[in-house]
Amino acid sequence: MQRAVVSLLVLQWAWTLKGIPVLPETYILAQENFDLGQFMGKWYEVAVVSTCPYYMQRKRGNPVIVTLELKHVASQDNFTMTATNLRNDSCIQTSTVYSLTNTPGRFFHHVARFGADVDSFVVHTNYDEFAMMVLLGTERPAEIKTTTVKLYSRSMVVKDAVLDDFKTLARQQGMSDDTIINNQNKGECTPSEPVTEPTPKSQV
Ligand SMILES: *[C@@H]1O[C@H](CO)[C@@H](O)[C@H](O)[C@H]1NC(C)=O
Ligand SMILES: *[C@@H]1O[C@H](CO)[C@@H](O)[C@H](O)[C@H]1NC(C)=O
Repeated sequence: MQRAVVSLLVLQWAWTLKGIPVLPETYILAQENFDLGQFMGKWYEVAVVSTCPYYMQRKRGNPVIVTLELKHVASQDNFTMTATNLRNDSCIQTSTVYSLTNTPGRFFHHVARFGADVDSFVVHTNYDEFAMMVLLGTERPAEIKTTTVKLYSRSMVVKDAVLDDFKTLARQQGMSDDTIINNQNKGECTPSEPVTEPTPKSQV
């Protein structure tokens, strides 16, 4: 915990030095000059770590690479993320709508199942290899705060340097890098009945 507090303070200090107002609660900076169009398309969710024990329990129980398809319809201020993965030999597909915000690289969505509001940030991406995500969740009405860090990759194989950067990000977010779950490649699957509507089963 000591380390987490220190890094938050350093971040806050850095922001103040740059003359950017310090926003309450979130100290997350999105990728500079974020380009939504380049971020769209297919990603693999290759590694995750979270302060939420239920999320970690669920992921440890089924550590498979999730295939993500991101689609943005021009002129709409949201995009759809369709996640496909194998759960107990069934191919499960869920779809989540993310609202764009005034900050490029920062999105918002609500998870009805947990009554959770989620703020997502693309903190670091080069678009054609990796994207590092920080998701800040608030479960209401209890106001439980969670932080989840995810590594998206354009291919199922990830360079060590990218994994090292991801570990650093997890530590900066107050998590131990040895709790990171590296998802396994169990092959891609195709659901028998693709979803077209957003479902309440959307992922945090
Ligand atoms: C997405 O945004 C458009 C307008 O930009 C809106 O009409 C539509 O309802 C939104 N979709 C969802 C599922 O929120
Ligand atoms: C898979 O099936 C087993 C046994 O039927 C069950 O206990 C487990 O919860 C299931 N896992 C998932 C992820 O649905």
